[in-house]
Amino acid sequence: MKGTFPINKIKGTETPFYFYNTGLLRETLETAKKEAGKFGYFIHYAMKANANPRLLSIIREHGFGADCVSGGEVLAALKAGFPASKVVFAGVGKADWEINAALDNDIFCFNIESVPELEVINELAAAKNKVASIAIRVNPNVDAHTHHYITTGLQENKFGINLCDLDMVIDLAIALPNIKLVGLHFHIGSQITDMTPFASLSMRINEIQTKLGERKIRLEHINVGGGLGIDYDHPNRQPIPDFKSYFETFHKHLNLYEGQTFHCELGRSLVAQCGSLISKVLYIKQGTAKQFAILDAGMTDLIRPALYQAYHKIENISSDEPLEKYDVVGPICESSDCFEKEADLNKAHRGDYFALRSAGAYGEIMASQYNLRKLPGSFLSEDFI
Ligand code: LLP
Repeated sequence: MKGTFPINKIKGTETPFYFYNTGLLRETLETAKKEAGKFGYFIHYAMKANANPRLLSIIREHGFGADCVSGGEVLAALKAGFPASKVVFAGVGKADWEINAALDNDIFCFNIESVPELEVINELAAAKNKVASIAIRVNPNVDAHTHHYITTGLQENKFGINLCDLDMVIDLAIALPNIKLVGLHFHIGSQITDMTPFASLSMRINEIQTKLGERKIRLEHINVGGGLGIDYDHPNRQPIPDFKSYFETFHKHLNLYEGQTFHCELGRSLVAQCGSLISKVLYIKQGTAKQFAILDAGMTDLIRPALYQAYHKIENISSDEPLEKYDVVGPICESSDCFEKEADLNKAHRGDYFALRSAGAYGEIMASQYNLRKLPGSFLSEDFI
């Protein structure tokens, strides 16, 4: 089954562009909010997945906070109207200006990843006569069983504080005068569709909290990061990810203290399925053993297949003719500029429109101008009514 696109209205629009189905986006946000709300959990939208301002304002309207990983994202979140009191700021390499921008705006919390970073935030906060709220990002050594480029919770990653150093970093955070330690932060990886790693994470957090409890340390919040995955193979089958199981897993396995709040940072699961990259076929090239559909979109518009061997379902939304096999490639001068080999697609012709599905997360935001190409455009479904 193909997705539904307003093909007659799309015709004439310059390609390639991202098309966002805002009906599905809203439904997804409402479902996530409802399922989190059952347990009083807070969701901070991970801006890195997609910072298109029109999407941000819809996400903000639903009452979500923002999870940022750069000063640029902090400022974009505030500009989109996310309250500073719901902004968290993570990242292993926060520059001084980024820390200062976050301090000036009194964000909810810095997620800190190293001792020197903690000391610099303390210094910069002191210079402003402020106290910075921080959560320590702990590397929980839990395997997310996902692609090695997007797993982050294992010992050898650059992220977070290793468990063996945690006591020392906590002592330091408590001792620094311009730091207030308010939470612990975790993130084990992305595109996780099996709930077991989230259960393992919960149990690891319980162990940590028990040890801290013995030292009479009780923190205001636990932030479990993001990572809930989506179904790239079948974007129409269950377009709204299983938020129910996700939150129930934490509710079942994670022990929180009375009054301790739960935070998470979902990105992909909120925005991936509502977005498609729409591209036009430039040429059908007959090779000796195969045929190529050469698109006007390339790895500069959607880099995930080239970078992570990621799969995005491709549909020829202009044709109902019988299926043929195509290698679907872009125009960039790199062999990795290939979206799919041997894709089964309705017979294609020059000028046909292709949709690359499930591209709402880590699509538009990761676009580049390599080869001096234009950045892709973007439209919401309501633009075509
Ligand atoms: N929190 C932290 C600390 C993160 O590092 C990430 C993602 C998230 C939250 C959001 O995770 P999500 O809910 O989206 O899984 N560009 C890659 C994904 C990189 C994810 C990096 N961190 C891709 O296209 O698959």
